[in-house]
Amino acid sequence: MTFCGATTGIEPPLALLAELTHRCPLRCAYCSNPLALDPASRELDTAVWRRVLDEAADLGIIQVHFSGGEPTARKDLEALVAHATGAGLYANLITSAVLLDRARLERLRDAGLQHVQIGFQDTVPAKAEIISGFPGGQPKKLEVARAVTDAGMALTVNAIVQRHNIDRVDDFIDMALELKAGRIEIANVQYYGWALKNRAALMPTHEQLIRMDERVRARLPELTGRLVVDYVVPDYYAKRPKACMGGWGRKFLNVTPSGSVLPCHAAETIPGMTFDRVTERPLADIWANSAAFQRYRGTDWMPQPCRSCDQREIDWGGCRCQALALTGSADNTDPVCELSEHHGLLAGITATDGGTAEVPLTYRSFSL
Ligand code: SF4
Ligand code: FES
Repeated sequence: MTFCGATTGIEPPLALLAELTHRCPLRCAYCSNPLALDPASRELDTAVWRRVLDEAADLGIIQVHFSGGEPTARKDLEALVAHATGAGLYANLITSAVLLDRARLERLRDAGLQHVQIGFQDTVPAKAEIISGFPGGQPKKLEVARAVTDAGMALTVNAIVQRHNIDRVDDFIDMALELKAGRIEIANVQYYGWALKNRAALMPTHEQLIRMDERVRARLPELTGRLVVDYVVPDYYAKRPKACMGGWGRKFLNVTPSGSVLPCHAAETIPGMTFDRVTERPLADIWANSAAFQRYRGTDWMPQPCRSCDQREIDWGGCRCQALALTGSADNTDPVCELSEHHGLLAGITATDGGTAEVPLTYRSFSL
């Protein structure tokens, strides 16, 4: 099926997040995967993924992000990358890197992979091990990151920032420069899935945040032309929400390991929603017509104050899953917005959870 925006009035999405598997050797305390993980026995097979990639290209999607869990746990990754690039998609790999080596990276490059994004839990190996629950990860990540650029692919360092590493943001930037990354994402932990469970152990203090902000801003001038820095103030300390996913059902879609098609990675937390599956309905039809994508698309669903706000087509009311997690209903304005009647909740949460105390971590318990 070829998607026709002219007849539906809905633009095609920009990118597909292909969650190939929930399996992962790491057990990160900030993981945004759902608490109920898909077992290997429910994963889509290679043939179905190939069809999904063809349907994505037909729909007008430009980029595919192979993700997980750990996507390199799939033995058919090379075949899927080759299929995606053969269909005209730009292929990016989002990985922990610990299962990769030079030989496999070169095979992936030869299959058409153009970009690799490696998540780093810290710059200090022992501290990275505490957050990831995985021994020996840091040297492996550094080795693979060097191999990515040696193989001629673009590298992004994804620095996942929380209260135990936030004061090392300079070290993260230096590490990205040393690794010849083109880009660093200073990604403050977002509190969904396992991260929400661990919020009291991960949330930084306001003072830490101000220090980080000063350091990032101080470094920006020297980084111009050398390293692209993606950095936003973390939600819980912000005054206006992010346009989560670029707006619900506007730019992105996720396909889970078992084939559910979601408007965002956390959408399954919203009660009462059902999600179509790639095995039952064409991707273009799901994108244009499914109840899940229609539910919060555009502005008709919005309550006040969003409904009459001049920002409503800029941030699209923020994040539905965050509104649910914090207010109990995904129908509410994201409480990150200072105009929300629930905005005061955030001050309470940052006062109780934002700290420096040692709170035990709950690790996801689901591996290869
Ligand atoms: Fe955005 Fe709604 Fe806040 Fe306006 S009221 S800034 S649309 S979240
Ligand atoms: Fe679901 Fe933001 S994560 S809308």
